[in-house]
Amino acid sequence: MGQARILLIVGGGIAAYKSLELIRLLARRGLAARVILTQAGAQFVTPLSLSSLSGDRVYQDLFSLTDEAEMGHIELSRQADLVVVCPATADLMAKAAHGLASDLASTTLLATDKRVLMVPAMNVRMWEHPATRRNVARLEADGVRVMPPDTGPMACGEFGPGRLPEPERILAEIEGMLTGPARSPPPCGPLAGLRAVITAGPTREPLDPVRYMSNHSSGRQGYAIAGSLAQRGAEVVLVSGPTALAIPDGVTAVRVETASEMYDAVSASLPADIFIGVAAVADWRPARRAASKLKLKGAKGPLSLSLVENPDILRSVGTRERQRPRLVIGFAAETNALDRHARAKLRRKGADWIIANDVSGDVMGGTDNEVSVYSASGSERWPRMNKSALADRLAGRIAVHFGRPGAAE
Ligand code: CTP
Repeated sequence: MGQARILLIVGGGIAAYKSLELIRLLARRGLAARVILTQAGAQFVTPLSLSSLSGDRVYQDLFSLTDEAEMGHIELSRQADLVVVCPATADLMAKAAHGLASDLASTTLLATDKRVLMVPAMNVRMWEHPATRRNVARLEADGVRVMPPDTGPMACGEFGPGRLPEPERILAEIEGMLTGPARSPPPCGPLAGLRAVITAGPTREPLDPVRYMSNHSSGRQGYAIAGSLAQRGAEVVLVSGPTALAIPDGVTAVRVETASEMYDAVSASLPADIFIGVAAVADWRPARRAASKLKLKGAKGPLSLSLVENPDILRSVGTRERQRPRLVIGFAAETNALDRHARAKLRRKGADWIIANDVSGDVMGGTDNEVSVYSASGSERWPRMNKSALADRLAGRIAVHFGRPGAAE
């Protein structure tokens, strides 16, 4: 791979020692690492061990005059091919997600125009905290690659996701990012310059650490629409519940589990020109998520669940007063009175179009779809077609709506 250069930001945490091994592995592949060490990171590894391995000085201070004279923070990121944050602490990710520039590491992350890989390591509760979930979703929506942490016993004595992946896996991720397209080609096509946020798949609403409520949505229709819009040049953020599908080319994916996470990820991905709610969002979630597995033994009588309503993502986007996307599209899955329900949904959700399908047959989870499209000006019935043909036809209609040249269906 030759002369690629990595700017490695070492954050604080017990896993910081693994950054030393990572530098060694990088060097073996001919990849030079230049290191920024945060103040917290310096509590765990010394600048001397990092510089001995990287063969370069270690940068620590935003306001050091000698550093500025030799290499400012802008220059540091300019000279790199990839910025890697390892370990990425909850604090560093929060700063980057909010655009804070309070030290050399966060300032460099704000100033860089290079691709960024974050390799988180933290306590499982910190990783699972809604604030960290939001920050990860925000970073992913901004195009940052966040490597999922490993699951296992942690230095703090707990068990769960939060461990730094092994350095070999981090190296593989880095090599993958370096060999991928250095910079995506400027988008072309009828939807170039438009940003679309799409939800897809089911959501999972946990009852306890091992059980959840969900539905049969496969995510196929939403993924196909994301792919069709991206193919036509749109910048697409796909906020997806758990699915087994591959992310379509050119699409930025934000993976979530619950409706509340999906709501947060969508809010973080706006503003956009187009919003399409394809996800089968669970309408309710258990009022309480039990901290440990619910036990059958000792249960007094039948178990009753109390459910609370989830946020309505489509409605919240469709009725936004500020920065409402110019085109808001929802889906309506109905088993009866399609026409009446679809029209009611159009109004209630503040959508411009509602794509209604009858799910009493084999549509949900299947490969085909048969829909009618409703808008304020009427409705139109589309013939039965497979989900990717439907996605292409919808993308064509969207291009026509935005008056784009070459907007053929
Ligand atoms: N939707 C959403 N957030 C929710 C529920 C639904 O964004 N909490 C979106 C779906 O992505 C879809 C549309 O709303 O685009 C229709 O969802 P549906 O569940 O069919 O409608 P409901 O509002 O739940 O109405 P009902 O269940 O009464 O049919």
